[in-house]
Amino acid sequence: MLKKIKVQDATVGMYVHEICSSWMDNPFWKKSFKLTKEKDLKALSHYQIKEVWIDTSKGLDVHVEAKSVSVEEEKLQINSALQQIAAQEKKIIPRIPLKDELLRAKKKLAEAKKNVITMFNEVRMGNAIKLDQAADMVEEINQSITRNPDALLSLMRLKTANDYTYMHSIAVSGLMIALGKELDLDSASVKEAGIAGLLHDVGKIFIPSKVLNKAGQLTDEEFAIIKTHPQKGWEQLKLSGEIHDITLDVCLHHHERIDGKGYPDQLSGEALSTFARMASICDVYDAITSTRCYKASWDPAESLRKMAEWKDGQFDNTLFSAFVKTIGIYPSGTLVKLKSGRLAVVTEQTEASLLKPVVKVFFSTHSMAHIMPELIDLSISPDSISNKEDPQQWGFDLKKFTDF
Ligand SMILES: [Fe+2]
Ligand SMILES: [Fe+2]
Repeated sequence: MLKKIKVQDATVGMYVHEICSSWMDNPFWKKSFKLTKEKDLKALSHYQIKEVWIDTSKGLDVHVEAKSVSVEEEKLQINSALQQIAAQEKKIIPRIPLKDELLRAKKKLAEAKKNVITMFNEVRMGNAIKLDQAADMVEEINQSITRNPDALLSLMRLKTANDYTYMHSIAVSGLMIALGKELDLDSASVKEAGIAGLLHDVGKIFIPSKVLNKAGQLTDEEFAIIKTHPQKGWEQLKLSGEIHDITLDVCLHHHERIDGKGYPDQLSGEALSTFARMASICDVYDAITSTRCYKASWDPAESLRKMAEWKDGQFDNTLFSAFVKTIGIYPSGTLVKLKSGRLAVVTEQTEASLLKPVVKVFFSTHSMAHIMPELIDLSISPDSISNKEDPQQWGFDLKKFTDF
């Protein structure tokens, strides 16, 4: 049985199923491991892990007086927190149908990828970043997001481990723009947020690829090298002349946490700008929904739930709620089960409600057989979502059922 417990209640002999923290901040932990020595416990506290999931079938249980949370309780808590966000007022942003934007977004994304590769290569060769080129690219992303955010945001998830750094830059730019619009920022700030997203990880080009793309766990030393990328990126951007303060700030502070336990400056609370707080959310979401050399991706809805689990201390609460409103409780690409018993993949959000996206049904759980795929707008259908499902457990390749 899995139980979430406080680290101070952990003892030698317990089996840690998962630590409750973003693996981006803790890339040196094995996913699961047994606590065999006192020093394992000290390491958990040293790396500021507050809670862990333990598996009582593989190790000791927690003592009876200690507080623990079951998987079901955790699920209920997170679902109710997400439902509360869904009940909040959401800005209505008009959009064109997804099918009218998808092809154009595909072309724009291919162009943007080429441009980002060229831009990063230039920097690698010691040349300054051409800011006007970055601004043009962001304008294209901005226009696509304005027409229909689901087109580009869905396409951007389909990256490979090889093109990760470039596609991640474009994805964080797109997410920053979409979040900026949800927050009602003025158009100049939205654009600057997009440029900041595009350039936030430019410092990674100075990290040796054998460290950056290492397939196994990182050592402390290797993680220390990776942690230099915000500072290195900031120094590089400083050389580029007329760079906006927002971009400099996001580049330097996108790995800070609201509780001051991030890096490089351990800034906390009010010391962190809105843009740096926005970037830390967009950055983590895109990283965990992407396949990396060392990590398979999580599906979008699962990623959102993990982030909701970690959010206290890591993210700004208000901005996290705005982010959920931006991508939906059931983001595009999520496998869901409908009350009618049909399985469907979410293809697009609707203006009506975060709980009523457009879905494509393709499987009946009653007959356990595929059915004729059909698009259903849940905002005008009597059917509704009963829960999200794990595509891996069902063994479906959802790409077959979507156009992205
Ligand atoms: Fe980064
Ligand atoms: Fe990043």
